Amino acid sequence: MSDNPKRAAAAAALELVRPGMKLGLGTGSTAAHFVELLGVKVKAGLNVVGVPTSEATRGLAKHAGIPLTTLEEAPELDLTVDGADEIDSRLRLIKGGGAALLREKIVANASKRMVVIADSGKKVAMLGAFPLPIEVIQFGLEATKRAVVKAIERAGCQGEIRLRLRPDGHGLVTDSGHFILDASLGRIPDPEALADGLAAVPGVVEHGLFIGLASEAFIAGPSGVEHIAR
Ligand code: A5P
Repeated sequence: MSDNPKRAAAAAALELVRPGMKLGLGTGSTAAHFVELLGVKVKAGLNVVGVPTSEATRGLAKHAGIPLTTLEEAPELDLTVDGADEIDSRLRLIKGGGAALLREKIVANASKRMVVIADSGKKVAMLGAFPLPIEVIQFGLEATKRAVVKAIERAGCQGEIRLRLRPDGHGLVTDSGHFILDASLGRIPDPEALADGLAAVPGVVEHGLFIGLASEAFIAGPSGVEHIAR
């Protein structure tokens, strides 16, 4: 096994790739290993196409020589491989630490199979220690924030909500032109209720709870790569 757990998880997922596949390409440092390893196979003759989940991944995939397509040309993908910020035993995820949650969720939902790759530090008994990213429209930010707080409380959670900032102090703007609110909740006892509540708030474009999307995960730790399937 690679001494880098993220790379080991990426290498395990690479074994699922077959010639002719249409692939969703995730975002983040773990997904970047997958893109790089996939690029080596493509250069050796593997015929696949990829849909990137962010502009950052688009750049990496181009550099790696992976042919790219869009969901307009390929609305159904065979396999998406992506990282996660947290993963529980039912393969429910928190994603969006890299601000790519919206495109990540669209691409995962358009895929027959979504496989998560992660190091073992991402496994949790209960979601919520990682701040939950919530992508919101720029218009009406303060009002949307208040409505988000109410939705969070109704789902039995509480905590601080902060606008994600760029290093220069301005609000970070996602690839799709929105802001991100990070909700530090500590624990999310009922992720489904919170997901439903957030989805109903006008101004919320998407949230980082991925429920019922991932069917498998490769989790790499010191003793090897664990395969989880639901
Ligand atoms: C990107 O928005 C995220 O969903 C990433 O997939 C997640 O943050 C995992 O990133 P790392 O692999 O860098 O930990």
